[in-house]
Amino acid sequence: MSYLKILTATALFAANAMALSAQTEEAGNSFVHQHEANGYIAPEDPTVLRKLDEWKDLKFGVLFHWGLYSVPGICESWPICSEDWITRPAGFTYESYKKWYWDLSKMFNPYNFNPEQWADIMQDAGMKYMVFTTKHHDGFCMFDSKYTDFSIAKATPFAGNPKSDVARFVFDAFRKKDFWIGCYFSKPDWHSQWFWNDYYGCSGRGRNYKLDTDEHRQWWENYRTFCKNQLMELTENYGRFDILWLDGGWVKAEDVYLEEVLQKARAGKHPGLISVDRAMKTKWENYQTPERSIPDVQLNYPWESCITLSHAWGWDPSAKFKSPAKVVGILAEICAKGGCLLLGVGPTPDGLIQPEVEAVLRPVGAWLRKNGKAIYSTRTTEVYTNDEKSVWFTAAKDGKTLYAIVPQSDDAPMPATISWKGNTPKGKMTWLETGKTVKYTTAGDVTTVTLPKGANGKNGVALQFTIQ
Ligand code: GLC
Repeated sequence: MSYLKILTATALFAANAMALSAQTEEAGNSFVHQHEANGYIAPEDPTVLRKLDEWKDLKFGVLFHWGLYSVPGICESWPICSEDWITRPAGFTYESYKKWYWDLSKMFNPYNFNPEQWADIMQDAGMKYMVFTTKHHDGFCMFDSKYTDFSIAKATPFAGNPKSDVARFVFDAFRKKDFWIGCYFSKPDWHSQWFWNDYYGCSGRGRNYKLDTDEHRQWWENYRTFCKNQLMELTENYGRFDILWLDGGWVKAEDVYLEEVLQKARAGKHPGLISVDRAMKTKWENYQTPERSIPDVQLNYPWESCITLSHAWGWDPSAKFKSPAKVVGILAEICAKGGCLLLGVGPTPDGLIQPEVEAVLRPVGAWLRKNGKAIYSTRTTEVYTNDEKSVWFTAAKDGKTLYAIVPQSDDAPMPATISWKGNTPKGKMTWLETGKTVKYTTAGDVTTVTLPKGANGKNGVALQFTIQ
């Protein structure tokens, strides 16, 4: 590449990243699935139920977005969708932009690809499960699919590399560390001619033709079979999965023969496989997935908030990251409300987790090693916060041992005291991190705790006590 070409490409990447990261920050973005606190349908299969209950103990996982969009560091897939909330850099027509996007495959060369490094960092961060994008809406496969050549294993300079079937190596690295494994798969595929056919213009996220002729009905049948085949490939050839995380709610479970896929998978290699057909409120959505948000209130059915560590799902050169204290605070609030946290991290285009991510996550792990009793394997307790929402309560499975987590705010020192109503302690209260006794007084149903010296700067304090 000539110097001028590199410059132009870099400027373009930057413009792209800016336009799209600004968008993802906006509230009410049309691709964010908002949470609705109803419609949950519990599965009937006892193996799935048992697995869901075990999953509830894990609390903390990572969601990797890695794909073509990681090359320039732009928003995942969405820039090639023709909807009016999407902006692209000036100077492109829709078609020229799409061509530029597809051609990113020619530059995708993760020569430093090191999934063991990913797994090492996430394990040290205290995470217990992972979800990886095998295929996002753009249709670019991060696994070696025999049903398309549009994949990292076939269409990139990385194609001849022994690790070019990257999903396999990512899953294996995490299995070695006893993580639960989640397979993200987008039901929509914008690269498939049977979904977005080039004969027609692009009209949005859905299939771009009507089912009004025999030919079109055949295209759609081809599409459905293509998705089913890819799901079968993944569930048959990539080892054990615990979670099948399906995105793109505008294509339905029935469209991709999900029932059949699940039946085979659960009867075969993946007993109790948790199906997350997100935002659909069907029997295939075994847990719900509020996105970039935490539900307002405690919910007593299985759920997980997926939240980005920066503002973006994928790698973004301009990313600013949440602090370790912020992550601890989010995790505490989610656990108190009965959910799990799936934290979004974008590996770099060359195949690593960047030092800035590591710098946030390792201290979170250090906090969890000392205070993890207040998080892992906990269940909810009725009074789960105070009026100020400055403390979050979780309960051990005995229901009598409670934990009070006081997160550190990014902007202020820890308060000297903290008060709450209800959850009145009986006997000794200890600071989990040190085992030292903590002073408190009670007046009626109000408890006031004097936070221990040294509580400041610890990313949050977790206290243990028994209730009356
Ligand atoms: C949204 C976005 C999608 C992203 C997902 C992650 O559904 O549309 O791009 O992968 O959130 O939760």
